[in-house]
Amino acid sequence: MKYNKPRGSLDFFDKNIEIYNFILKKFKIFAKLYNFKEIKTPSFEEKDIFIRSIGKSSDIVEKEMFYLFSKNRNKEYKLSLKPEGTASVIRAIIENKLLERSNFLLKLFYIDSMYRYERPQKGRLRQFHQFGVEYLSKKNYYIDAECIILAINFLKFLGIKNFKLHINSLGDLVSRQKYIKILKLILQSKTLCNDCKIRMNLNILRVLDCKKEKINDIPKIIDYINDEEKKYFKNILKILKLNKIDYVIDNKLVRGLDYYTSIVFEIYYNDSNWSKNTLVAGGRYDNLVANLEGKQCDAFGFAGGIERLMLVLKDAKNITNQLDVFIISLSKEAYNVSFTLSLLLRKNNIKTDLNKDFSKTLKQQFKLCDKYNSKYIVIIGDKEIVNKSVILKDNIKKNEKNISIDLISNFIKGELKNDKKI
Ligand code: HAM
Repeated sequence: MKYNKPRGSLDFFDKNIEIYNFILKKFKIFAKLYNFKEIKTPSFEEKDIFIRSIGKSSDIVEKEMFYLFSKNRNKEYKLSLKPEGTASVIRAIIENKLLERSNFLLKLFYIDSMYRYERPQKGRLRQFHQFGVEYLSKKNYYIDAECIILAINFLKFLGIKNFKLHINSLGDLVSRQKYIKILKLILQSKTLCNDCKIRMNLNILRVLDCKKEKINDIPKIIDYINDEEKKYFKNILKILKLNKIDYVIDNKLVRGLDYYTSIVFEIYYNDSNWSKNTLVAGGRYDNLVANLEGKQCDAFGFAGGIERLMLVLKDAKNITNQLDVFIISLSKEAYNVSFTLSLLLRKNNIKTDLNKDFSKTLKQQFKLCDKYNSKYIVIIGDKEIVNKSVILKDNIKKNEKNISIDLISNFIKGELKNDKKI
């Protein structure tokens, strides 16, 4: 019988597990640099949390939730796998009274698996991983700007260049309602796709970001939001400009999750071959904590898709785990010396491996060094054993020298430290 991985999921091995771990490690460093503390929530939650927060009419709740059946099949399922992180984090914050304990100032980050029953395609999976932050504090445009800049700087730090920040404001509830009335009138006279006909009644703003519709001649939401919100939006744009962050004001950006209020943003990867190209997305959600029956607290956050970053970084060099030292042995006696040296190098935190197969020629042993992408090659033969030395080849600087076997460990340690400084 042949088993395959479930549709829309991935196996991680070889280069892709290294790229995955690289993104994970760097995001942790980055989030801590901005003073975010880590939180981990369960893989499943009560489904109502998502229905109440993301919204009944959202694609996620309507079509994409993975529900879990309890043992007793007659009981209605109450749980669902997590389709996103925000609602789950907010549930944990409320349940554990984290806001009260932190005097209503919380900066949290997470890295987690999410599950959505989608039609799998490039960059769109049923199990995927998100990195994200949630910043809970009194509304302040420096918070929005800090989170957006964190996301942008993280992508730059990974070496990703080809992206664009799209930003919009949904304004406050009153002005949004005003805008929705006008929008309804205008859209009634248009022929819409089947999905948008449903959205007209459930969440009309979502018609704006429908990929099938080309709706151009409609008023911009920005012209309907009140002065305070306009000023708030302008202040964020000013901070972005001041810090040399390019952006596009995108009047059609409304986001597919209902909890957003005010500012929303998405960061797209510019690749025409790839339609599901939002790398990071988020915004302000000032009512969610109260909606989930916590104390009122404003919030801003974002999440990014790790598999999407993996697609972008798949050809990046220097991500894959490099071996520090590979040891080549030229005689039977040398194998013993090499083996003992490998243990000593590992004891000194130097990533080391060695050839153990007597039948391998020198050329074949060099091939192994290439396979492991080793920074240094140590060569030991009978002559070296007599002289108590080794040949050390530096694969990066492309030089070679003889060095006493007693000094080799400290020498490589020093060289690796210098590499890290650069
Ligand atoms: P989202 O836009 O649903 O927002 O997802 C955020 C990111 O997760 C997307 O930009 C994309 O990179 C990745 N992503 C989403 N769906 C998939 C999928 N099926 N396959 C692969 N990657 C995917 C949220 O989830 C919000 N919770 C973001 C947020 C946090 N807003 C405030 N705080």
